[in-house]
Amino acid sequence: MEVDVMSNISITTVDKSKIDSFDFENVKFGAKFTDHMLVCEYKNNAWQQMEIKPYSAIELDPSARVFHYGQAIFEGMKAYKDDNDDVWLFRPDQNFERFNKSAVRLAMPEIDEERFIGGLKALIDLERAWVRKGQGNSLYIRPFMIATESGVIASPSNEFLFCILLSPAKSYYSGKIKVQIAEHFSRAANGGIGAAKAAGNYSAQFYPTKLAQEAGFNQVIWTDSATHTKLEEAGTMNVFFRIKDTLYTAPTSERILDGVTRKSLIELAKSEGYQVEVRPVLVEEITKAAADGTLKEIFGAGTAAVINQIEGFSYKEQYYQLPELKDEECFALDLKNKLTRIQNKLANDPFEWTV
Ligand code: COI
Repeated sequence: MEVDVMSNISITTVDKSKIDSFDFENVKFGAKFTDHMLVCEYKNNAWQQMEIKPYSAIELDPSARVFHYGQAIFEGMKAYKDDNDDVWLFRPDQNFERFNKSAVRLAMPEIDEERFIGGLKALIDLERAWVRKGQGNSLYIRPFMIATESGVIASPSNEFLFCILLSPAKSYYSGKIKVQIAEHFSRAANGGIGAAKAAGNYSAQFYPTKLAQEAGFNQVIWTDSATHTKLEEAGTMNVFFRIKDTLYTAPTSERILDGVTRKSLIELAKSEGYQVEVRPVLVEEITKAAADGTLKEIFGAGTAAVINQIEGFSYKEQYYQLPELKDEECFALDLKNKLTRIQNKLANDPFEWTV
């Protein structure tokens, strides 16, 4: 998308970059940020001028709505660098669209493409030295919007702040994780905000996830809130199950996030000749398949981890261990490798996902 942003953006740069003291070999996901950030205020019913400025604290009134009612949304995206030092975004149009869907659901103003995509490109252009080459290396992009109007009245804010932060990220293999299938807690319900990338969806997961961790698991697999019989998401990711040689994942719904990695994996897997079925996946079929040995793999899929393999799960006090497959037998590893090669411009991109 070609957008002339320069007429609507003010840029103040740092005197000295902190890049020389940044340890690109030991990167902790989401912990450190680049020199600059983009901010743009919404007030008087309009988005104001964009500003790129040194990364710094944001000053807000203690009664700002975001602190009291959690009116906040975000996105997760990544930028990659190829061997020619060109920098690429992966399907930014998808994040832009989803951001505005989240905004509508949270009674926040939609943002225009010039600010979201154009502003992002201008920021990344300034920070291109922070994007490292190589498979799995990326610059994690965190656009977010918060309600900034002061006053604890429980109604939508009229003032907002849109902001983009950038954080170097490395391919990480966190190891296979153990998960617990939710029998009581829910991530989302029909009519709720599960399909939006709303901050509250994540904070609401912290407590059940903490309980799962205390019981020896890494994450929770969320089930549908009404019956707890359908498997919907894993931690902060979408989730895939492989029974025999078919991959299954739940359809998106009011309760399930329309993940960019999820939809890319479905398309990629199909084009690679894998059998993929998008349909509700029942807890019962997974426990049965685990018991009869046909459940081969489970993995989470999201922007941050790309794919996170799951080694086993617990349900109703019983633990089900998945088989140990050789690397070359894992659909998860093959798809992760193929997707990250496309993202890092190490392989052709027949889908034209990279921009
Ligand atoms: C993602 O992987 O897409 C996420 O949203 C994870 C983020 C909450 C760290």
